[in-house]
Amino acid sequence: MKVIITGMNGTVAPVLAAHLQQLGHSVIAWDRQRVSPETTSDYLTTVRPDAVCHLATGPAAWAEALAQSCATIGAKFLYTSSVSVFASAQQGPFGVDVQPQPADDYGRYKLECEQRVRAANAAAVIARLGWQIGDSAGSNNMVDFLERTQQANGCVSASDRWLPSCSFLVDTAAAVTSLLLGDAAGGVYHLEGNPGLTFYEIAERLNACHGRSWKIVQAAHPFQDQRLIDRRIPVAPITARL
Ligand SMILES: NC(=O)c1ccc[n+]([C@@H]2O[C@H](COP(=O)([O-])OP(=O)(O)OC[C@H]3O[C@@H](n4cnc5c(N)ncnc54)[C@H](OP(=O)(O)O)[C@@H]3O)[C@@H](O)[C@H]2O)c1
Repeated sequence: MKVIITGMNGTVAPVLAAHLQQLGHSVIAWDRQRVSPETTSDYLTTVRPDAVCHLATGPAAWAEALAQSCATIGAKFLYTSSVSVFASAQQGPFGVDVQPQPADDYGRYKLECEQRVRAANAAAVIARLGWQIGDSAGSNNMVDFLERTQQANGCVSASDRWLPSCSFLVDTAAAVTSLLLGDAAGGVYHLEGNPGLTFYEIAERLNACHGRSWKIVQAAHPFQDQRLIDRRIPVAPITARL
């Protein structure tokens, strides 16, 4: 399969690309220095990918154009959205039928992208992801947050009443791949790797796993079960690696 992936300078895309390549698929990174998102339709018509995975952030109009162009050329289209479409005041766990009520700009932006993608391409697969967990600081993942917070504050306040939506990057990549390669119908999917650990527990376990000396301080806020639910798409539980 020939797959175009956007956002390759980011956190999730390189891990997904590596996973697809391991399975023998051909990955083309969208290089925005060379190909402007403004020329999406022409580019896809020329390259003729079998699938496009849109992981980049950027204008909602680009997500819409990619979805539309994939519909036109008959390519699969997968968009990565976020648990952030749900406000922190909403109590989960969230099934795909729960109406998101985003309360911040990022959540509203992700929901707008979802809506424009769905309107442009009914077969589009939208994968909502939780907070990603990597191996180190330096990218958009939980370990980076813990490291930077420790350095800035001398400790990390971690709620024992917050069950964050999260998964390890490599497990997310595997689940996204199975959505892409399987016969998933168009629509929204929830990818969840947290079987029920609080943020405090996760932070403590990452501290031990990485041999760090973060000072994790138990806190009572936020108070939310943020987890996503979707029995159609299993994701390896974080407890398998923690
Ligand atoms: N990391 C997480 O914890 C997490 C959680 C939930 C959902 N997600 C979702 O997963 C996807 C990937 O996340 P990520 O963490 O890999 O993101 P990231 O590390 O922030 O990278 C995003 C990438 O988007 C591209 N980009 C940035 N600004 C842009 C702009 N103005 N116009 C066009 N492209 C732009 C860049 O890639 P290029 O320079 O290669 O184009 C950038 O590296 C996103 O849709 C995100 O919302 C991530």
